[in-house]
Amino acid sequence: MKVALITGVSRETGLGYETARQLSSLGYYVIITARDVYQAKLLAGPANLQAEQLDVTDPDSIDALRRTIENDYEKIDVLINNAGAYYDQGNRAMQTDPALVHQAIDINLLGAWRMIRAFAPLLLKSSSPRIVNVSSGAGSFHDPAFGITAQPGAVPVYSMTKAALNALTVHIAEELKYTRIKVNAACPGFTATYEGTEAYGARPVSDGAKGIVWAATLPDDGPTGGFYRDGQQIDW
Ligand SMILES: NC(=O)c1ccc[n+]([C@@H]2O[C@H](COP(=O)([O-])OP(=O)(O)OC[C@H]3O[C@@H](n4cnc5c(N)ncnc54)[C@H](OP(=O)(O)O)[C@@H]3O)[C@@H](O)[C@H]2O)c1
Repeated sequence: MKVALITGVSRETGLGYETARQLSSLGYYVIITARDVYQAKLLAGPANLQAEQLDVTDPDSIDALRRTIENDYEKIDVLINNAGAYYDQGNRAMQTDPALVHQAIDINLLGAWRMIRAFAPLLLKSSSPRIVNVSSGAGSFHDPAFGITAQPGAVPVYSMTKAALNALTVHIAEELKYTRIKVNAACPGFTATYEGTEAYGARPVSDGAKGIVWAATLPDDGPTGGFYRDGQQIDW
């Protein structure tokens, strides 16, 4: 049985939940996690998933989850760092309180980093372990619609945390290149996870999740250390 672990699954229309459903339909046993475990439990029942509490900024919460999973399954095959926050639309870097930047980094960068460090031993017990960091074109220079060059100054805190997440992906992939673990960043594209965003061109959540599932199910000769959207490498 292949076990997948996904962070930040608290909303029915979120990418985390759709990714969980797609992996489940491929035969994975999926553990969804949320800060408020009640939200994850509401989603888990109908989709036959397992719900657990997880705050990616809280080392005790991460450790408790690791112990539970190690006890029940001994290994995981897929870790998807989907939890993310602080899409600071309309914000300006010059006006940003550094405390807010700390919080954003704590979730978007350090959250994934903590999870990778905590779960690497369980991933190493898998025959085909995969890590997916859910990133964003907003954290690249080259994205023609949302990139730092295309929209200078837009979502400054969010974009910098996602650029850092891409950099983390490269570093971790390099350090793990002699293991079976493949680690990639995946951008879902502009996806309609919040009401009203379709009107601005957001695509269906099922489409956004496909590229995350692609990176989570890469074959053994698949890539590591890259940044992808819909299975296509993109510059950052
Ligand atoms: N939608 C898009 O167009 C788009 C585009 C590019 C990238 N992305 C990325 O895709 C991912 C999912 O986004 P989404 O659009 O599906 O929105 P979302 O439903 O708001 O997903 C974010 C999730 O992260 C969780 N979270 C926040 N802080 C957390 C913490 N400390 N510990 C654990 N979980 C935490 C949120 O839970 P709470 O309910 O507890 O806050 C929420 O479940 C994010 O990383 C986002 O940056 C989205």
